[in-house]
Formats: sequence, structure tokens, C-alpha cells
Amino acid sequence: MLDFFINGKPVQAEDNQTVMQAAKANGYFIPYFCWHPQLSVPGNCRICMVEVASDGQVEGEGWLDIACNMPVTRGMRVFTDSARVRARRKETLQFITLNHPVDCGICDKAGECTLQDYHYEYNGSPSISTDAKVHATKHFDLSSRIVLDNERCILCTRCVRFTHEVSKTHALGVQSRGDHSLIRPVEDGAFESDPYSDNVIDICPVGALLSKSFLHKARVWYLRPTPSVCPGCERGCSVNIWHRKTEWKLKNLDARQNTRIDRITPLENPAVNGPWICNKGRDLAQLFERARATQAMLKGQPVDQAQAIARARALVDAARQPVALVSSWGSNEELAAFDAALGRRMRSYVKADWQAVAGERLEDELLIRPDKNPNSAAARSRFAPVPADIGTAFPPDTDLVLVWGEGFSFAELPPKAKIVYLNSYLQPENGHADVFLPISVQTERSGHYTNFQGVVSAFEACFQKAPDVADAQTLFEALAPVPAKALP
Ligand code: SF4
Ligand code: SF4
Ligand code: FES
Repeated sequence: MLDFFINGKPVQAEDNQTVMQAAKANGYFIPYFCWHPQLSVPGNCRICMVEVASDGQVEGEGWLDIACNMPVTRGMRVFTDSARVRARRKETLQFITLNHPVDCGICDKAGECTLQDYHYEYNGSPSISTDAKVHATKHFDLSSRIVLDNERCILCTRCVRFTHEVSKTHALGVQSRGDHSLIRPVEDGAFESDPYSDNVIDICPVGALLSKSFLHKARVWYLRPTPSVCPGCERGCSVNIWHRKTEWKLKNLDARQNTRIDRITPLENPAVNGPWICNKGRDLAQLFERARATQAMLKGQPVDQAQAIARARALVDAARQPVALVSSWGSNEELAAFDAALGRRMRSYVKADWQAVAGERLEDELLIRPDKNPNSAAARSRFAPVPADIGTAFPPDTDLVLVWGEGFSFAELPPKAKIVYLNSYLQPENGHADVFLPISVQTERSGHYTNFQGVVSAFEACFQKAPDVADAQTLFEALAPVPAKALP
């Protein structure tokens, strides 16, 4: 450990830490644009300037240098907020905003933009320049998912370094020089096919890189992030699901805007995904917002939920050879409830609710895993997977199959067996089941998933479920056999 001083207070740094890292670890804030804890250090934006005093010097007499690229040395005395530091930051901001447009009122990054925040904190003055701003491409299609506004870009190169150092597609670069510099994709389409490309939207410190799917959809201060887990593969990345705050509920516009997913961003979790997620994780709204099943049915005929539960219960009680196909999207709590209620009553197998779709990356060394279900590990710790020879899952006298979740063709079920089906989405199979019960999706309940490494992550509810939609956990409890009465 190295002893040194920040703003006159003794602090400690680990060997090889920079002033930026040590200051952050000790709770001191130094502004930064180009520095990112997971990327290399280019030292190009100069906003992280601090004052360093040598022996005998006091605050105001030291030299100015950037904190992100300066190693801590024993006894060093750093001032993060001296008058000279604040003056230099102000000059730096004047420089960075020389050609930056005053777009905040229409910029999607407003509310999350560090340039805006630092301008108010360290500058706050109008531009001293009398020259016209240099104009650049205002709307450049960086990919089918991302639009680039070159006028807003401050050339921190975070996006470029991300593709070189994290996603390793080497898909972005800087073209030309000086105030004509432009971020551009390489011409082989590598950025378009980079499955992690949208992370550059989060790490861009300004509103230069914007998500087309979120563009002009909502002001971020009207939205709330709910912590959740991506169910897109067995990595189970931690994510924030952004949706409208109840206090900002829309009353006169389409009410569905109050219950829709506005965007999904990574929730930093060093044990699982660090600060990144893949693009599939960002597109979860397409999955969760498919047409929902909200009506219980008996052989396709609508009935109320209590009738459907009673019929399912009667079928379970009467069955002699019942089989269950358990969901790999069920939470740990739901799996435990199923196991406690029906695990010994039924021969149970775990099915893969989802498979990779055509063109989807199967796996890589960063995050993406081959099993496209979030809770296979927990489900398989309780039940065997569906056998490759599906026929062996069903004994000849199978008289009931309980199917929980998607991903299984009814054509493969024994033709004479009764079917109890629990599913969340509108699908043709729903009407073919003897009993169909609509169940909630992940965004309507809380719970936990266990990923392939055994890490347990929690998800919380964002929205209320429809009145006739049940949680699978409650249904399993309702279907549990009644214990035989003790003899008097
Ligand atoms: S687009 Fe954003 S992340 Fe990329 S260099 Fe410009 S400011 Fe930095
Ligand atoms: S790597 Fe898997 S869990 Fe993570 S965001 Fe992508 S699909 Fe979701
Ligand atoms: S954060 Fe240090 S130079 Fe950019």
C-alpha cells in the first residue's frame, strides 16, 4: 500500500493504482470523459486535471496533470478541487464545447449527460469563442440500431476502444484529424454484426451515440429503472428495465405507454456481466411484449380462473401416471414451489423453453452462452432434462402431462394423455389443452435465477399482472395433493 494525501487528508492506494483509481476508491470525485474503468487510458479529454504539490509546496503552487494516467507515488499530495484545478477545468470545458451544439433541449442524453453536468459544475459560462462552430454530420447511421451525431461527439474514443478491447470487432475508428475528426465504422460491416454494439450508447459520455429504438421515446427523468435479470441465456446478466414512473403516468395518451418497457440497460454486476450486456438483452421488450394470454380455458372454451384450477386439480388427483415438463424460465421460488407441491407426484423433466434462433450468436468468450434459458441450472439441480429420445419421457400409460412454459410441441405428447398447460402468451396450443391457465411473466413478479456459474441474481416486478393471470407459484400450491387425513 502507498500512503499519500488527497486534499490534505491521508489516504492509501494499492500499488500501481492511478490517482483517478485511488481517489475513486477513497470516495473522492474527479470528473472524467475518456477514462472508463474497463478500458485502456488514452488521456485525451484532460477534464480530470488535478494539482500535485511537491515537498514544501502548498495548494496553488503545485503542477497540473491528469489523474487518469498518473500513478500514485508515496507521499504525493494531490488537490482535486483547488482554484487552479477549477480554472483549468473551466478552460477545458470551453475547449470541448467550442464546436458542441447547444442541443440539450432535444438531446436524448439530457439527464444522463456528463458534459451537461460538468458544464454546470465547472463552467456555467457562455462560450468565449466568436468563431462559427464547425459543423459535422448530424445524423449518421452507424448501424441499424445506432445513430451518431458527430457534432455532439467529443472524441473521447471510448466507443472505438470498446470495439477494440471488449467486443474485439475493431469495428469503429476515427477518420480525419483535428476538428474534422469523425467516428466512423469500418467498411466490412463489423459494427452492424457486433452483438455487443449497443454498449457504446451507454459509455458515450454525451448524446452522440443514440439508440434508434429509444430515440425521442421518453425523457429519462420520467422513467424508473427496475433491477432485473436478462433471461436471454444462462449467463443471466443483471439489467435495469426502464419504465414510466407511476407519478408521471400518462392519462390522456395511450395507456399502454405506462406499462411498456422503454429501454433495457446493463446493471453493473462484477460477478456476472461487469458493466456490459449483449444486444439481445436490450431487445427483451420484443419478447415480453408479445400478445399475452389472459383467459383461462377448458378445451378452448373460456372459463373463469377458479373453474380452470378446479378442473386441473381434479385431473392431477385422478392421474395415475402423470408427467410434468418443467420450465427453464421458472424462478428458483417457482421451481421450489413446483417441487414441494408436485415434484413427487409427477415424473418431472426440465425442458428448454427457448432455443437459439437462426443467425443468433451461440456463444463467445465475453458473455453469450449456448443455453438460451435463464434458469436451466436451478431447474436441472432438481429434475432431469427432457431425454433426447422424447418417447422415453412418457411411459405407455401416461394419462396426464402438465406443460409449464413454452418450447414444447404438443405433437410430441402422448395422444391419449390429458394436458394441463401453463403459459403466458397467446399461442395456438393454448386452445388444445384440456386445461389452460395463463401465468405471469418475469416483469410482473419478483424472484431469483441461478446462472450457469451458480450465481443467484434477483429480479423485481415492474408491472401489475392482469386480473385473471396467475403466478405459477400460486397455481402449484393450489394443485398440491391434500395430505391424507390423520387417522383419529
Ligand atoms: S461518439 Fe461518444 S463515445 Fe464515441 S468518441 Fe464521440 S463522444 Fe466518445
Ligand atoms: S449474454 Fe445472455 S444473459 Fe447477458 S444480456 Fe445477452 S442474452 Fe442476456
Ligand atoms: S479522463 Fe483523464 S484525460 Fe480524459
